[in-house]
Amino acid sequence: MPITTTQQQWWKESVVYQIWPRSFADGDGDGIGDLAGIASRLDHLATLGVDVLWLSPIYPSPQDDAGYDISDYRDIDPTFGSMEEFDALLAAVHERGMKLVMDLVVNHTSDEHPWFVESRASKDNPKRDWYWWRSAREGMSAGDPGAEPNNWGSIFSGPAWELDETTGEYYLHLFSRKQPDLNWENPEVRQAVYSMMRWWLDRGIDGFRMDVINFISKDASLPDGHAHDGGLYGDGMPFFVDGPRMHEFLQEMHREVFAGREGLISVGEMPGVTVEEAKLYTDPARREVDMVFQFEHVQVDHGPSFWDIRPLRLRDLKAILGRWQAGLAEVGWNSLYWNNHDQPRVVSRFGDDGAHRVHAAKMLGTLLHLHRGTPYVYQGEELGMTNAPFDSIEDFRDIQSLNHYAEAVGMGADPETVLAALRIRSRDNARTPMQWDDTENAGFTTGTPWIAVNPNHKGINAQAAFADDDSVFHHYRRLIELRHTEPAVAHGDFHMLLADHDQVYAFTRRYGSTGLLVLANFFGDPATIEVPDAGRWQDAELLLGNYPVDATEKLRDLTLRPFEARIYRLR
Ligand code: NOJ
Repeated sequence: MPITTTQQQWWKESVVYQIWPRSFADGDGDGIGDLAGIASRLDHLATLGVDVLWLSPIYPSPQDDAGYDISDYRDIDPTFGSMEEFDALLAAVHERGMKLVMDLVVNHTSDEHPWFVESRASKDNPKRDWYWWRSAREGMSAGDPGAEPNNWGSIFSGPAWELDETTGEYYLHLFSRKQPDLNWENPEVRQAVYSMMRWWLDRGIDGFRMDVINFISKDASLPDGHAHDGGLYGDGMPFFVDGPRMHEFLQEMHREVFAGREGLISVGEMPGVTVEEAKLYTDPARREVDMVFQFEHVQVDHGPSFWDIRPLRLRDLKAILGRWQAGLAEVGWNSLYWNNHDQPRVVSRFGDDGAHRVHAAKMLGTLLHLHRGTPYVYQGEELGMTNAPFDSIEDFRDIQSLNHYAEAVGMGADPETVLAALRIRSRDNARTPMQWDDTENAGFTTGTPWIAVNPNHKGINAQAAFADDDSVFHHYRRLIELRHTEPAVAHGDFHMLLADHDQVYAFTRRYGSTGLLVLANFFGDPATIEVPDAGRWQDAELLLGNYPVDATEKLRDLTLRPFEARIYRLR
């Protein structure tokens, strides 16, 4: 029987759960999460009802960037376990009716990957051209200040070029100096990546989340970027984001890896991607990827630089997400996320991690899961986990945070000011251990955790949440169930309401004769609104909310309580 579009696009009715293995659950007591730990917690995920698990990298790695620096694509880092344990985990995930997606990090490798070890050995090594090697800037000698081949800055501070003494040439690294960029212009590189991907799919995995995949095609002339006033480096983004051969490379990857296989999912992480480009990347007819992670909505509180914090303006957030909803309404598909291992915890960031934490976490979850697209839950989000109380720089572990601190303080910034920004923005906020129970290390490990457990695990933990029917966990469980049972959640169209309202986020979804109305007060003060088309919705059924609601309440002049969210359905 031919496969229907809906069967092919099963991921529209699915929810993905991201596991960041280092901090999920530790099975062997060394203080670092591992595969045995994940295997022991599958019931938590099955109860939550998620359909797909995405594992952040578990491959052999020097762990310079917490595993996003891979030294062997076809094995498991001993810290996380063995290939046998991986196969057993995959089988256990499948037995529970879930799928497993791996992280694909192929914009760069580790500098300890054998490909790079060969590449750096000599200028005539057969793998020399697998990476981006260039000599010093015209008229300058290697090692001179400013002699780097171009003026790009690394995303993890410092220049994007590292001088390699062996041959006196520089190599490009958009991230840390231990993450050299692969040269996708070279067809051998592409074939090596595709063959590795097929190897994992043959093992039974269900797809890939592709790390910064829209960086793989660079403008091969590597021109200088525009240097902003006061900036140390030029902006290389116009020359490596959505580069000239991106669509060609993804289509080739599709042909070489995905074509002829069924039931898979591919999601491209794409910083800087625009709606117009995303529409091309996710148009099923073009056969590139199923969906992309865009970044606009998680930059809404960024100032001129990543480390400048700007207060949230709800209108801006609505304008961004509304534009993405409209842009991919007919063709393409959205990924929906508030959290991942690179973002601070959303309840602290856009909600309230104090008195209103539970209401705020449920409100944020409700909004996200009711947009059109595939929602992603990041470990601990379903518990309403918060940012962590980092005291000093010694409490941080993340390379991006540590490099920024060293660079900024080295240039004379006030250490307390830099720390204040790190506390709000650091990726380590997402990386503190999963809070399973109220025991000493939150049930994460019997050893010493590699990064401190958030002391609020005494009150915020999975065991307590599971026992409380009114918890954030059970609210997320109901949201996920709703996607599985109400087709309008997955397939309905999206229409933003009250776009200019400063406090309320509201929209409708429509699928056939079913209408959904979603109303949310984004802040801690009550908000009174006039629901557009209130008469029409007056008899609608309340499907889910985060406060008790009086059935006789009139929608015409509605007061939403702090962080209140409601979903109504009309058939
Ligand atoms: C994006 C990943 O999500 C992030 O954690 C990593 O540091 C960079 N890509 C580099 O791989």
